[in-house]
Amino acid sequence: MGTFLDEVKSRRSVRTFDGRPVAEDLLQQLKDCAAKAVNPYHIPVTFDFFTAKEHGLSSPVLSGAETYVTAKVSVQKNADVAYGYSFQKLLMQAHHLGLGTVWIGGTMPREKFEKAAGVTDGEVMPCVSPLGYEAKMSLKEIMMRKGVKADTRYDFEQLFFLEKWNAPLTREAALSLGLEEALEAVRMAPSAVNKQPWRVIVSGKNIHFYEKKDRGYDNGTYDLQKVDVGIALFNFEETLKSASIPTTFTINDPAIPDLPEHTEYVATYTLN
Ligand SMILES: Cc1cc2nc3c(=O)[nH]c(=O)nc-3n(C[C@H](O)[C@H](O)[C@H](O)COP(=O)(O)O)c2cc1C
Repeated sequence: MGTFLDEVKSRRSVRTFDGRPVAEDLLQQLKDCAAKAVNPYHIPVTFDFFTAKEHGLSSPVLSGAETYVTAKVSVQKNADVAYGYSFQKLLMQAHHLGLGTVWIGGTMPREKFEKAAGVTDGEVMPCVSPLGYEAKMSLKEIMMRKGVKADTRYDFEQLFFLEKWNAPLTREAALSLGLEEALEAVRMAPSAVNKQPWRVIVSGKNIHFYEKKDRGYDNGTYDLQKVDVGIALFNFEETLKSASIPTTFTINDPAIPDLPEHTEYVATYTLN
């Protein structure tokens, strides 16, 4: 299937499935991956796998989905970022195994999924995903993709900066820093309503990640756009890891001046 970046590029949200539940051997591989899915915050994320029939699970944006994965986490600082990281690891493994997935954080009967997953007080289940075999895109799915411009992403220079907020990082400059592929994996990541809320400043060996907040994604307990940033962190780290480039993860706001409004520091990777 190629490199991790190739897999990031070949992934897309799948909302139309052929009606078959996931084969037992593939499901077992995903369960093994889920049990090992650690994140840089060391916050445990618990995954559970269900058949649709068993629990009456469905989503209005999906057709033919027979298997679902849910993920829950204890409410705490950075739980949403950690959640995005761990869940993306699992969903990329599903893609690697040839299965279709889509992050679902809104368009679902939440109570049914929370009941199936046994979500307790002090826990949240921001998202779920179907797992299955892709079928020909339905008209509904085609229209949905158009609605959020799912096939487009911001340009490199709109997302990534060099040393300062007013200095866009070109693809060529990123290439010379050895970061073009890892940042491309960030750029291509999925995000809620395709808002792409991640922003990055490269400063020497440090790669600082930020969230550019839109209104309506933070419910006070968790922020769906922090989940998006967690997805971006996973894609970034995994691309470098697959090229044997080690990094160190820290949370230490560099307080770079002229922070754009509604923008919040999240974390830093440092090239070792
Ligand atoms: C955290 C998160 C929540 C999402 N929630 C939904 C959802 O509730 N319903 C849906 O149809 N798609 C949802 N999506 C999928 C996005 O719309 C999709 O990733 C984006 O439009 C980009 O398209 P792509 O994944 O095909 O590249 C969500 C994605 C993320 C990352």
